[in-house]
Amino acid sequence: MEVVAVVPAAGSGERLGAGSPKALVEVAGVAMVTRAVDGLLASGVVDEVIVVAPPDHLEEMAAVTTTGRVVPGGHDRVASVALGLAEAPDADVVLVHDAARCLCPAAVVSAVVEAVRAGAPAVVPAIPVADTVRRARPEGGVELVDRTGLLAVQTPQGFDADLLRRAHAAAGEHRATDDAGLVEALGGRIVTVPGDPRAFKITTPLDLAMAEALVRAL
Ligand code: C5P
Repeated sequence: MEVVAVVPAAGSGERLGAGSPKALVEVAGVAMVTRAVDGLLASGVVDEVIVVAPPDHLEEMAAVTTTGRVVPGGHDRVASVALGLAEAPDADVVLVHDAARCLCPAAVVSAVVEAVRAGAPAVVPAIPVADTVRRARPEGGVELVDRTGLLAVQTPQGFDADLLRRAHAAAGEHRATDDAGLVEALGGRIVTVPGDPRAFKITTPLDLAMAEALVRAL
C-alpha cells in the first residue's frame, strides 16, 4: 500500500509577518517545511512526500526540501492540496499535513496511517478544547458554547486516496478549512485519533517563539 503525504506549503505567511512564505521560516535554524517533511518520513510509514510550494518560490523550497518532491501550488489551500494530489496517482493512502504543524510527533503520523490501513476512510488527529468557548452573535454580544465533546482538529489527516480524490473533484467552489471538511461534504464519516499539543499550527510570532522554545527543550 503506497502512502503519500501532501504538504500544502504555498501560503504567504502574512500573519507571521516574516516577509517570506511561512514554510521557509526557520524554527531554531531549520525551515518549517524541512522539519515537516523530515517528521513525516521519520515516522517510517510514509513512502513519499510532495510539498506544494508558492509558484514564485519553487527553487528556495526545493533547496530546503531535499527528501521531498516540490510542485507549484494554487490560489488557496484547497487548490494547493488538489495540485499535490494530482502528483500522486498511484497512492493508496494520502496524508495531508500543514507545513506549519512542523513539530508534530511521529507517533501521531503513524496512528493516522494505521487507522486508515485498518479501514477508516478519513482520519483526523484531534485534541480536546481546553478553553471556555463563546460564539460572537451577528447582532452583538457573545453566547456560551458547551465545550463538552469539542475537539480541535490537527494534521496530518489521512484518507483513502480515492475518497480524497473524489472529495476534491466534487469541491467546486466549496472552501473547507481542511480536507476532512471536503470529505464530510460528500457524506463521508470522519474518525479521530488522539492528536498532540506539539502538533500545534505556527501562525503568529508568538507561536514561532513557542516552537523555538519547544525545540530547545526537547
Ligand atoms: O493560512 P493557513 O495557515 O490556514 O494555511 C494552512 C496551510 O495551507 C499552510 O500550510 C499554507 O502554506 C497552506 N496554503 C497553501 N496554498 C495556499 C494557501 C495556503 O498551500 N494558496
